[in-house]
This record gives sequence, C-alpha cells and structure tokens, in this order.
Amino acid sequence: ASSSQDHNKHFLQCLTEQFEGSNSDPSNVIYTPNDAAYESLLITQNRRPESTFPLRPLLIITPYYEREIIAVIYCSKKLGTQITVRSGGHDYEGLSYTSEVPFVILDMRNFRSISVNTKDRTAWVEVGATLGQLYYTIARHSKTLAFTAGVCPTVGVGGHISGGGYGMMSRKHSLAADHVIDAKVMNVDGQILDRRSMGEDLFWAIRGGGGASFGIVLAFKLELITIPEKVTVFNVSRTQEHNATHLVHRWQYVADKIDDNLLLRLFLRSVKSPVHGNRTIQASFTSLYLGRVHHLLPIMQEKFPELGLVEDDCTEMSWIESILYFAGVRNESLDVLLDRNPARRPYFKGKSDYVRQPIPINALNGIWKFLHEQPEIKAELEASPYGGVLSSYSKSETPFPHRAGNIFMIHYGIAWNNPGKSELESHMNWIRRLYSYMAPYVSKNPRAVYFNYRDLDLGINNEGNTSYKQASVWGLKYFENNFHRLVHVKTKVDPSNFFRNKQSIPPLLSE
Ligand code: FDA
Repeated sequence: ASSSQDHNKHFLQCLTEQFEGSNSDPSNVIYTPNDAAYESLLITQNRRPESTFPLRPLLIITPYYEREIIAVIYCSKKLGTQITVRSGGHDYEGLSYTSEVPFVILDMRNFRSISVNTKDRTAWVEVGATLGQLYYTIARHSKTLAFTAGVCPTVGVGGHISGGGYGMMSRKHSLAADHVIDAKVMNVDGQILDRRSMGEDLFWAIRGGGGASFGIVLAFKLELITIPEKVTVFNVSRTQEHNATHLVHRWQYVADKIDDNLLLRLFLRSVKSPVHGNRTIQASFTSLYLGRVHHLLPIMQEKFPELGLVEDDCTEMSWIESILYFAGVRNESLDVLLDRNPARRPYFKGKSDYVRQPIPINALNGIWKFLHEQPEIKAELEASPYGGVLSSYSKSETPFPHRAGNIFMIHYGIAWNNPGKSELESHMNWIRRLYSYMAPYVSKNPRAVYFNYRDLDLGINNEGNTSYKQASVWGLKYFENNFHRLVHVKTKVDPSNFFRNKQSIPPLLSE
C-alpha cells in the first residue's frame, strides 16, 4: 500500500507541476482516493463486482483541455504508469477503468461538445458525449437528419464508434464507424492529428479497431444520414404456445434479406407461460421500419406472414422518439437522453457469435434448455440481423470484417445483482457452457466475435511483451485478416506499446 501511495504522490506532484502557469485548476480535474468524488467517478458502469478488480486507480483525471491530456501522457511516461482512457465506461470487461498494473483513469466526460452542420450534413462530436446526447443534439437541429449507432443512450462515443457501432438502422445505413469522415487523435508524443496528418493507416484503424491501442481519440467528424419524418416501430412477442420456435426458425430465412429499411431484431428469454404456468420461451421481435406503417404491412405480409403483424401492433413516431422506445423509456421527455448514468447497474457478462447458416430446430430446443436454467435472473439472447448495406462493404474497408455472408449476430448476455463470488462463478460458467454448445452452429475458422462485445475469455496480453502469435488468437476472431494491418499500424504509431491493455493490439517486436 505504501508503494502505491508513493506512486500516487509522485503522479500527483508531476501533474501539479505540469499544470503550473496554466489556468488549469487541479481540484476540478484530478481526483485522488481521498477526494469525496473519487468513488462516484470510479463506479459508473461496473460490469463485475468491485471486489474482483485487481487494483484501484491512483488518480482519476477528468480533463477539460488538450494540454491537460498532454500532461497526463508526460507524467505517465515519466513514472511508467498505465493510462486507461474512458469515454462512456461501457466496456464489457471494464478495461477503461481497471488494470493489473498501477494506472490512472483518463476520463473524457468533459470532452463532450457537439456541433452539427445541417447544411453539409456533418457533425463534430467529442468522445465523452454519449449516444443519447448525440441523437438529442442532432434531433434539435433537424427532423430529417440522424446518425446510425447503438441502442443504449448512455454508451460513450469514444469506445463505441472506434469499435464499430451497430444499431437499429444498420441494415440500411451500416455502422457508426462507416460514417466517420475525419477525427482528432492525440498520439503517444502528445501531438494532435487530424485525418490528413495522421494518414490513412491510422484513420483506418480507429474506425473499428478500437481507439485504445493507438492513441487518445478526442473527436470524430460524422457524416449524418437522412431519415423520413415518420418511422414505424413494433415489438411483437410470441411464446412457444404460439409457435415461437417455428417463428424463430423461419426468421433466420428472412431477417437478412428483407427490405433494407426494416430491421427485425429478436430477443429470446425464458418466461412463465400465461397459459399453463410452466416455463416457456418468449421470442420478441423488436423492429424499426424507416417509413410509414402502410408501406410496412405489405412487406411483412409477403415476406414474414407467419408473424401475423397487424396495424395495431405498430406505432408511427419520429426517429428520436424511436430512440426512447428502443431504450425502453416510456412517458419521459427527450431530456432523459442527456442523462449519463443509467439507473440500474447489475453485474454482467456478454459474448457474441456470427451465424451463417440457419440454426436447426433441434439446436434451438437445446438453446431453450440453457435459457430455462436461468429463469429468475436476466439471461437473454439477442439476435441482430445483418445483410442490407452491411454486406456492401468489403471485409477490409474498415477493421470491422463481419460483412457479406452473415445472417445475424448473436449476443449472449447474463446480468445479476448479487456481488458474491459463487454467483459470479456460476453465471460465468453458464455463459461459457452455452458458448461451447453453440460452436457447431456458428462461424468457424476463425469463430468470429464483435470487438465492441469484448470478451477476455478469448485470451489476453502478457504484461510484458505479447507475441503476434499470442494476440492473433483473439485478434483474428475480432478482425479476421484485418488484424495483420492493425498490427502494422500499431508498430508504426506506437512501437513502444505505450497505449496498451489486456486486449490491445501489440506492435511487432524487433528481434
Ligand atoms: P469505454 O469508455 O469503457 O471504452 C471502451 C474501450 O474503448 C476501452 O478499451 C477504452 O479504453 C477505449 N476508449 C474509450 N474512449 C477512448 C478514446 N477517446 N480514445 C481511445 N480509446 C478509447 N454496441 C453496439 O454496437 N450496439 C449497441 O446497441 C450496444 N449497446 C450497448 C449497451 C450497453 C448497456 C453496453 C454496456 C454496451 C453496449 N454496446 C453496444 C457495446 C459498446 O459499443 C462498447 O462497450 C463500447 O466500447 C462502449 O464505449 P464507451 O466509450 O462507453 O466505453
């Protein structure tokens, strides 16, 4: 403990010296474990019980100015301290606020300004803004401009967009990262680069390869998309008594091929049957159509009549209202999109898979058995359709390789409230067993995984040097052959591996 206190003191001293002569006020920017705000800043989105964190950060730093970030890099190099960069704090494995070696959190929450240009349909957004804030701000400027990114409004721009960014409009408009047209990044030398000065290699890497391996992303320039003034939403649920298994099976033949304006997302969970009181599987088709209901109904009638969608199931609304709808917020004003802190923070583990051949009915029945094992807590499978515009990009256009050939992505998630160790172990065990059961039905060689659903079960870096071979075990799953180019970019921009975490891209070692 005393060496950690010394380390903490030295870092604080170094930063204070760096701040001298500027108008930075350390008390507004630097938080030590003795400060009252430290605890509340630390705990934002913890996905695991805090008792499992190996170390606490020496300091939490919430900069307002670029020069303060330069000072953090300087002191971190001088003292050999790791930096974890946090934008929205939603990392699935907590890599933006945990580490096994002494570290400081660089929390970007005060870098959150957004400027929208309706004329050229672009926006500059700083990384500490949340998706909710971004959507809200665009909607304040225009009824027909929007952005394509994730569903949860508290997710941060920095991690999300640099890692991909799939949402309810992705079949029509692809990923958030596919609409980045410029960026501001601070490199390992504290220089601020834009697209032109960073060059196309680094600009390519931060559009799906994650920011954390390459530098500190400060802002993205986004190309906005055009949407109709009214969109249509529905959420239709069916249990097994009403043909859920057959519907799920059939959905796999429809979801990636239907009209690009329509995204039929599917949620699967175990519920108590209203008919007989025993457990049953509930399949919820949660959907967005970029158009009016009278255009949607004939499409559903022709392509997926089995669902039996009727006009009463559907609601027309504005795009920004649909953001609240999919976030599960009812009867609240749009201002709730500006709230950074989600109300509930259960513990959580997630994993992902890509499906390229429809899963047969007997295998679906096997999945149902897994879901029935977890009736009282929140275990859920989410199936997100691909196809549409997502397939029109080549695999190497950005680091995100999951393009043509994928029918849908599965997200497995389990959430719980009790911080006990045995709960943690049993839930981890459940999701790992399910993942191994799924192996025959999902992508192979490599078994593809979505980087933004980070999973440390795939493998981690050594704290010293990690070989290309070791990192390729998970690197190829996240990025397929793009992993090689990511290593090349890393070797070029950060050969000393200053920006690193448990699953960062390693530089090639000179041997
Ligand atoms: P966080 O701040 O934790 O950062 C994540 C990673 O990026 C860390 O490694 C961090 O160091 C690095 N990083 C962050 N800011 C950086 C910066 N400025 N420069 C360099 N590196 C930086 N995904 C999706 O595609 N669609 C969805 O609908 C959802 N929904 C969703 C809901 C919920 C509740 C969660 C918890 C997560 C999702 N996600 C998602 C996954 C989400 O996209 C992913 O966790 C993002 O990395 C989160 O970005 P944050 O900035 O919030 O995380």
